[in-house]
Amino acid sequence: MIEYHKPYWNQKIMKNIGDQLNGNPYENPYELHETLVEAFKKLPLYQSVKHVHFLNSATSALEVMALALKLKPEDEIILPAFTHVSTANAFVRTGAKLKFVDIEPQSLNLDVRKVEAAITDQTRAIIPIHYASINPEFKALIDLSKVYGITLLEDASHCMNSGHQNKGYGLYGAMGCLSFHQTKNITSGGHGGCLFVNDERFNEDCLEIINHGTNRVAFSEGKVKNYQWQQVGSELMMSPYQMRFLLETLPYVDAITERRKTIWKRYQEALAPLVKAERLKCSTGESGNGHIFYILLNTEAEKNRVMEKLRINGIQAMTHYEPLHKSPMGNKLGFQRSKLEITESVAGRLLRLPIHTELSDADQMRIIEHLLDIFTEVL
Ligand SMILES: Cc1ncc(COP(=O)(O)O)c(C=O)c1O
Repeated sequence: MIEYHKPYWNQKIMKNIGDQLNGNPYENPYELHETLVEAFKKLPLYQSVKHVHFLNSATSALEVMALALKLKPEDEIILPAFTHVSTANAFVRTGAKLKFVDIEPQSLNLDVRKVEAAITDQTRAIIPIHYASINPEFKALIDLSKVYGITLLEDASHCMNSGHQNKGYGLYGAMGCLSFHQTKNITSGGHGGCLFVNDERFNEDCLEIINHGTNRVAFSEGKVKNYQWQQVGSELMMSPYQMRFLLETLPYVDAITERRKTIWKRYQEALAPLVKAERLKCSTGESGNGHIFYILLNTEAEKNRVMEKLRINGIQAMTHYEPLHKSPMGNKLGFQRSKLEITESVAGRLLRLPIHTELSDADQMRIIEHLLDIFTEVL
């Protein structure tokens, strides 16, 4: 089977982790965190990072952002319904109201015109996701948030090593996050994520929330005599073992990104005739970090047939997000009558093709040939 994805790791990473741990897996997490921050800030896109906190997942980072906003029940959060449940869960837990806005059909990101139409006096934050690490309209969203004085957050879970104007996605909003889950371009050993705090006003709160809701960090910096419970928080830091995994993986980030971009571009070029013949649409524009290459079939039935044909031929292609407003939880939250035309249409027709560093040129050519065959023979 040609798998859709394989997490990146190699023997040298594993050996180095073992050597560094030297038989003792219980390193001081705070010291190791500093080492990781320094190494991370050496990556070109992340040199301007003010505060980065390495956590056990992007989900945790989103929950910290939501808590740090100190939301009230009447506050509204604008987000896409074409996203992972974590983007929504984080805000539902605070009691604030979700306002799902439709995506635009080119990049599958929040449609800025529809965002503007959805803004009310209660809108507290807008959170885009930069689908597949590419968001050509992001500048317009930044401008919009400034004009209306609304906090911009970024769920940049897909975006490790990709950005906008030489600065990583996640560094533009008041807060942002990356995911290092094993399904992403690089992983910290299975789970992991980081929180960027770009607006200084939120950093102290975020530090408390990450550290069980206590001012433990202020204590360790000698600012207070003892640390105490200050607010609702949790244990959200990345474990020392995960930090080691990430530290040892960072030197490979550029090579991983380049390999994925090469695969991405080859798909785009090879499938161009099918796009021209209007048999399908596919990822457009620049490759971002090569996280996702998708094709959009003309109908859901066609998508099902292509997916099955690929499966029979040993190729794993994946659908993606189920629209959140149409989910059972979406129903419970009262979205049963909501209509998001593009989101609903895209979700049923989208297929992600295999993309990872172990995908050989020969296997990619097999995938492309099968796809071209499917369109001449079957559909
Ligand atoms: C847009 C988005 N947000 C959040 C997450 C959750 O990331 P994590 O698994 O690191 O919690 C994902 C995971 O795929 C995602 O795609």
